[in-house]
Amino acid sequence: MLKNKPKTKILVDGGDPSETFRVKTLIGFVDGQTTNPSLVAKNPEIQRLVASGHRLSSQEERNEYRKIVQSISPLVGDAGVSIEVFADLGTRAEEMLAQGQEMFAWIPNAYIKYPCTHEGLRAAQMSVQKSIRVNMTLCFSQEQAAAVYAATKGAREPVYVSPFVGRLDDRGENGMDLVRNIKAMYARGDGHVHVLAASIRSVNHLLCSFALSAELATVPATVLDEWAATGFPMPDQDFRYRGLDAAGKVLKALAYKELDLNLPWESFDIAHELTTKGIQKFVADYQSTLKRSA
Ligand code: G3P
Repeated sequence: MLKNKPKTKILVDGGDPSETFRVKTLIGFVDGQTTNPSLVAKNPEIQRLVASGHRLSSQEERNEYRKIVQSISPLVGDAGVSIEVFADLGTRAEEMLAQGQEMFAWIPNAYIKYPCTHEGLRAAQMSVQKSIRVNMTLCFSQEQAAAVYAATKGAREPVYVSPFVGRLDDRGENGMDLVRNIKAMYARGDGHVHVLAASIRSVNHLLCSFALSAELATVPATVLDEWAATGFPMPDQDFRYRGLDAAGKVLKALAYKELDLNLPWESFDIAHELTTKGIQKFVADYQSTLKRSA
């Protein structure tokens, strides 16, 4: 078990309550959980239904999702359970908000995940006005993080923004630089947005998240298993993160940009190809469990 809890809160990135329970036993605590449509589609119960030839209706899928987060909810600490709305590239903010409101009522410690798109940001803006906690997902740029900050100003509870480290690494860009740059940019802000390092693929990513003082990191159980198996290493003062791809090639550094957090959120150029691809992947994984007509 982990003796000294890091300042960075640790969340399990998954969709299986028994896995969360196992990690909690291994580490001694779990601060929170993040889920998404791809992870829910991989839930063992849903996989069993699909393997037996059963395809779910949208309502059944939603019921399964609710049961999953209701089982996870009591296992985690104050970082809560992030639940993602089902959105494709055409989903309007009002529809996302309606889903978010319903999902927020499923458990007492919910955070609602919206994508870092124009409609996702609009939904977030309306949500924080209704005191619905939000986690802005599929963040791949400093501009998106600046827009999250500006759109949710005045939120009474922390807002999360989730930079996807591993997916930037996948295309040769140093994803940890995005976390570093957002932290530096937010240092000039009011602290209402917390950085949740996501798409963590290795212990090295996790240690770098600690070293950068990310408020939270969401981590697959496999990476937490590896961290535990190696005795829960922590970054020391000499820790230097070397962003390398799988072949050992140095990842491209992402330069810091001077952005004014006081500008209206609509003024930031938030388009990012990986956000679009991420939404398409979530839709495809979600639909793989559904009836054709659903
Ligand atoms: O935390 C976000 C995560 O679920 C996405 O991870 O590995 O699919 O990029 P990955």
